Amino acid sequence: MAILVTGGAGYIGSHTVVELQNRGYDVVVIDNLQNSSEKVLGRVEAITGKKVPFCLTDIRDRIGLEEVFSKYEIDSVIHFAGLKAVGESVAKPWEYYENNIGGTLVLLDVMRRHGVKDIIFSSSATVYGDPLEIPITENCPKQPCTNPYGWTKSMLEQIMTDIQAADPEWNVVLLRYFNPIGAHESGTIGENPNGIPNNLMPYITQVAVGKREILNIFGNDYDTPDGTCIRDYIHVVDLALGHVAAIKKLQENPGLFVCNLGTGIGYSVLDVVNAFMEANNLTIPYRFAPRRPGDVPVNYSDPSKALREMGWKTQFDLRKMCADSWNWQKNNPNGYED
Ligand code: NAD
Ligand code: UFG
Repeated sequence: MAILVTGGAGYIGSHTVVELQNRGYDVVVIDNLQNSSEKVLGRVEAITGKKVPFCLTDIRDRIGLEEVFSKYEIDSVIHFAGLKAVGESVAKPWEYYENNIGGTLVLLDVMRRHGVKDIIFSSSATVYGDPLEIPITENCPKQPCTNPYGWTKSMLEQIMTDIQAADPEWNVVLLRYFNPIGAHESGTIGENPNGIPNNLMPYITQVAVGKREILNIFGNDYDTPDGTCIRDYIHVVDLALGHVAAIKKLQENPGLFVCNLGTGIGYSVLDVVNAFMEANNLTIPYRFAPRRPGDVPVNYSDPSKALREMGWKTQFDLRKMCADSWNWQKNNPNGYED
């Protein structure tokens, strides 16, 4: 039996495949490679010493998916595939709803036709909007989202919740990720954004490697100790291990299970920049710029449910996240391109 990993060539997916294979799980990856490279899978194979079965398939392609489910004995799905750029989603809402929601509806239908009713879904802390409590527990009410990307996560959570309620044979694990950064410590796989990075850590590493001149820090007048926004940065390997814990959780037939994956510690943008400089003995030029629309001032998790119910907690601190992000970037200044 194998775990189908959709979007398994992407940033979080590839790290999760490594941790699954290292623990003896069989996986099958599907990805349409629209935001990734097949080379990732060769790198994963080099780390784990195992072959990664790969199907170049789009989750919106029903026939392609049917073939995958017929060819392999799939017993559960970890569903990463999706578009994830917040700003782009504002400019291209149709594309985001069609890919993320349309694609997931096809996937869920093909799954049930093949009697596969166990799914782990990549959700996001974005569903908490401007959170009503800090730290954020899973009981914190969801808020209206500020962009179509966030809505796709929020709506897909609802869709899967309704499907599970209608058919209790389903086990649906909704994992709400906080801010994944870092890379595998080999430095051979990592985050590889197209064009100008939207997210903080890839922007910092691109400044460090000389691809960008200066980091803009969006806002230093928030009501936080140093005026910059606070987030819960989590090492991508810890996040990957959260999926291994979730796979074990599925064996308990939890029905619907919603869980935060974060460290529980909030760091400001300046904390991250300073930690990066210290960990790597580098200087990152930065300047303060206007606030970025849609940013919430403070967002960090209460991760105690994950510990209580899955026995999972994070291991890696901010320094390690910064060191591993840089190790990846400096060894691969152009990502997976030669
Ligand atoms: P990523 O872009 O690196 O990985 C997503 C993968 O899905 C890519 O390889 C892409 O090619 C593939 N894909 C996209 N649409 C597809 C389709 N229709 N069919 C097949 N493959 C498709 O992104 P990531 O950072 O690894 O994120 C993985 C998941 O986690 C996404 O669903 C994302 O929304 C979610 N998430 C990410 C973050 C973050 O900060 N990185 C935070 C919260 C949630
Ligand atoms: N930031 C800068 N300069 C940059 C980039 C980011 O100052 O060049 C700041 C942002 O303003 C924010 C912080 O760094 O205060 C973190 O920003 P990111 O874009 O790295 O992360 P976000 O918290 O905005 O968003 C991330 C994911 C979303 C997800 C959300 C959930 O990108 O997909 O976490 O909390 F929905």
